[in-house]
Amino acid sequence: MNVPFHWVTYGKEEVEAVLKEIKDNWFSPRGPKIPELGQRFADIMGKKYGWPVSSGTGSIHLALLAAGVGEGDLVAVPSYTCSPGVYPVSYVGAIPVFVDCELETYGLDPEHLDQVLTEHGGKIVAAIPVDLYGAACKTEVLDVCRKHGVIVIEDVCESVGALYHDSEDRAGKWADFACYSMRGDKIVTALGTGGVVLTDDAEMFRVIKLWSDLGLKVDTTMGRYRDLEMIGFNYEIGNVACAFGIAQMDRLQEIVDGRRNSARMWREALADSEGIVQMAEYDGHVWYQYPLLFERLENVDQLDAMGERIVARGTPLIPPFWPMEKQPPYSGIEADCPQSTYASEHVFLFPCYPALTEEQVEYMAGVIMEEYAKVG
Ligand SMILES: Cc1ncc(COP(=O)(O)O)c(C=O)c1O
Repeated sequence: MNVPFHWVTYGKEEVEAVLKEIKDNWFSPRGPKIPELGQRFADIMGKKYGWPVSSGTGSIHLALLAAGVGEGDLVAVPSYTCSPGVYPVSYVGAIPVFVDCELETYGLDPEHLDQVLTEHGGKIVAAIPVDLYGAACKTEVLDVCRKHGVIVIEDVCESVGALYHDSEDRAGKWADFACYSMRGDKIVTALGTGGVVLTDDAEMFRVIKLWSDLGLKVDTTMGRYRDLEMIGFNYEIGNVACAFGIAQMDRLQEIVDGRRNSARMWREALADSEGIVQMAEYDGHVWYQYPLLFERLENVDQLDAMGERIVARGTPLIPPFWPMEKQPPYSGIEADCPQSTYASEHVFLFPCYPALTEEQVEYMAGVIMEEYAKVG
């Protein structure tokens, strides 16, 4: 058996939506589907304004710019995350301060965040909590941010549609800016790439649109090229891609239900495993991937060797994040993130999309348990 890691759930609605825009010759990023996708996202997530852009990375960059974060500012960021969750801090000339993760949601550890914000005595202007693997970060993370008065830019790239813990509110709603990815491997996609940034602030929304589109004031017909308000970026996304994305948002619940069903299959298939910690389940989890923590491993070499054997048997996996402060571009920054290091040496991510079958999950779980049994 050879199981794919990603499989996008889509149907005739996505195909018809795309064909319609193609037939209407609406390729340009000025098409009607761009504001429509932004507003659809905002409505679903419970925010006022939304603007689609070319990537989740771009959405975080735009949020930082709109928030006024710039040269020399300090920003609290996860040690355990995907690099595009941190790079935008460097794009604006700000300095990342790494915060450890906890091992239930893999999001920021609220106690460490509190300690870091306190130690820096008001110098940290913003925080980027991350919602990983389909789960919202702990609610306490947002409480700590509020207590310290920092701007919150929530990185929801991996968890579109997730709910906060013990809440009916969708992840991103409680943040000043919420950033989502529509890359082809994410919960929903806009034909392979894309991102969305949400805010409740009309002026922030205005500047995000400006910045994403070369700083052109598109609201003035003749002033277009005469009236640049700032040096902007090209973070535009095409109209056809947004048509696909809207149809994906229309089936968000179906996709989430399918992912929850796949997570259930994993839980059952691994019920008798020993020394494998499955990610904590909660009602609002949307299961982007299925993380497993292998407690008996002693070092990253054992993790890698086991991973090679698992992959060789047709069971795909993705290695965990490597702590950002250990990556060459950030290695000069001091950080104290032991749980991030622990996760980076003990976790693998397995597929959890709706199209997985019971047979595939049982096969993968069997391979994983057999290969893990060879360790120690
Ligand atoms: C946690 C996290 N943040 C940010 C991103 C960036 O999103 P994109 O790939 O759409 O730029 C990703 C995904 O790639 C991610 O997993």
